[in-house]
Amino acid sequence: MKLIIKANPEEASRYAFEKIQEAMGSGAKVLGLATGSTPVKLYRIMRESDIDFSGMTSINLDEYMGLSEDSPHSYHHFMHEQLFDAKPFKKNYLLDGMADEKEECAQFEEIIAANPIDVQILGIGTNGHIGFNEPGTAFDSRTQKVALWQSTIDSNKRYFADEKDVPRFAYSMGIQTILSAKKIILMAFGKEKASAIKAALEGPITEELPASVLQTHKDVTVILDEEAAQML
Ligand code: GLP
Repeated sequence: MKLIIKANPEEASRYAFEKIQEAMGSGAKVLGLATGSTPVKLYRIMRESDIDFSGMTSINLDEYMGLSEDSPHSYHHFMHEQLFDAKPFKKNYLLDGMADEKEECAQFEEIIAANPIDVQILGIGTNGHIGFNEPGTAFDSRTQKVALWQSTIDSNKRYFADEKDVPRFAYSMGIQTILSAKKIILMAFGKEKASAIKAALEGPITEELPASVLQTHKDVTVILDEEAAQML
């Protein structure tokens, strides 16, 4: 893994943006995208850039179950607001949280097989989750329905009026699906991510810490601010 530590999230996000630009310059056509607060600065930099994404395809990691595309809490809505409305892509693929589980997950795997991900952007949960793959998820998992941990519900409730409104289930790319990306960029900011980052980078490779599987991938760049790096 390549480790990059920047002074703050802004500089770290700028570095991530440069990596995406470089990959596009070398022919990358498919970006795997993440939600959450971590990539928000990156998406702002992408929005403000003069880069044309109209030849690019995007595929998102995950989506809450039971929320329609136009729900203000859906990851569809988040992605449109943060990036797609300002920067049109050729095609944006996101899981449909209202669709039938079996059909939707199988179809999503077909989409990824037909559009192999060149660069996958990842955040990390405080418990080491990637996408919505909570600790204990099998390393050979593909896109599936997942149950969210209470700690994930608690972290994400800030986006909802009430904790009760946070969906308990989601559809998420599996660990194996994520590993199929040619290049992975993991970003983490803030001291609350420091222990998950330490375990992911320096701990044993274990399903109990999903992000530790990234140690097995041949092209991972980890971009941290100083706070997220403070335990390394
Ligand atoms: C969420 C998302 C993940 C994200 C993570 C961290 O639950 N499903 O894709 O990486 O948790 O979120 P944040 O960036 O807000 O800390």
